[in-house]
Amino acid sequence: MSALNGEGRTSQKMHGWLRWAGSKSRALDALRQRFESATYDLYVEPFVGAATVFLNLAAPTRAVLADTNEDLIAFFSHLKRDPEAVWRELSTFPRLVSKSYYYSARTRFNGLQPGLTRAATFFFLNRTCFNGVYRVNRRGEFNVPKGSRRIFRYPTLQELSSIGVKLQRADLICSDFQKTAALARPGVLFYLDPPYTGNAYDRYSWPPFRGRDIDRLGAFIATVRSRGASVIASYSGTQRPCFLSKEFEVKRLNVFRSISSDGSRGKKAEVCAYALNGNRVANRSGDLGDG
Ligand SMILES: C[S@@+](CC[C@H](N)C(=O)[O-])C[C@H]1O[C@@H](n2cnc3c(N)ncnc32)[C@H](O)[C@@H]1O
Repeated sequence: MSALNGEGRTSQKMHGWLRWAGSKSRALDALRQRFESATYDLYVEPFVGAATVFLNLAAPTRAVLADTNEDLIAFFSHLKRDPEAVWRELSTFPRLVSKSYYYSARTRFNGLQPGLTRAATFFFLNRTCFNGVYRVNRRGEFNVPKGSRRIFRYPTLQELSSIGVKLQRADLICSDFQKTAALARPGVLFYLDPPYTGNAYDRYSWPPFRGRDIDRLGAFIATVRSRGASVIASYSGTQRPCFLSKEFEVKRLNVFRSISSDGSRGKKAEVCAYALNGNRVANRSGDLGDG
């Protein structure tokens, strides 16, 4: 699998390490062509999740990455600030994970204040819980059971530092997607990968993404397009998603999912839709070159 480089070149995919429902890690090849057609000086990803797409953009452009999941954004913020401190904290977790250790870590996590220990525990739970699902109850407590993995694997210091280097060019914000509309202008590319609504596993945070959010998303896209920004969007199904106007070209993809939004595995039908401004400038600004 290769990264989202331009010019048909390939490079090794950057492993983001977080397991995340709807992660685009197996869709990078399919998405590459769309990213190659875009010209931009600012990349905005309002539903960043595990940041798979951002981490595999070779473009050395500035980025704004947003998500409503506080723990996710806090984890990336710690990585950006001090990957070595995150790595040291991760080294304190046992390699062999018993059921009782997992549940005691989960209880501890729900009582921790924001900070390095909470960020590292978030990562530990993500790697060892059932299917990497992030689900909280109405009180905001993480309540996913232990998964089948017995070994806690975590990145080397070098791997974490490479992610930290990429994050240096990104502003990380914990917010609703709506807030990023203010960034829209010509030269900005928005990549939208919203939760697929209506499934049991769409609870990345509380409250979950629902029908009214889809209406808000439609209005958001119309606004950013009217301000001259380009948009690439991913969604489930085989048809044009209801929140996209006819100006969007729609391409069908078949993506293998090890954690899908409905909790099942296997090939899923998804679409990649795009409305891009301007023509691709053959790598003149270097924004599609090797990062
Ligand atoms: C399908 S996932 C994104 C996956 C990502 N593309 C990846 O490769 O890992 C959708 C993300 O949207 C976030 N989210 C849910 N509601 C949101 C909202 N109202 N505004 C911004 N982000 C939201 C979730 O926390 C989740 O991380």
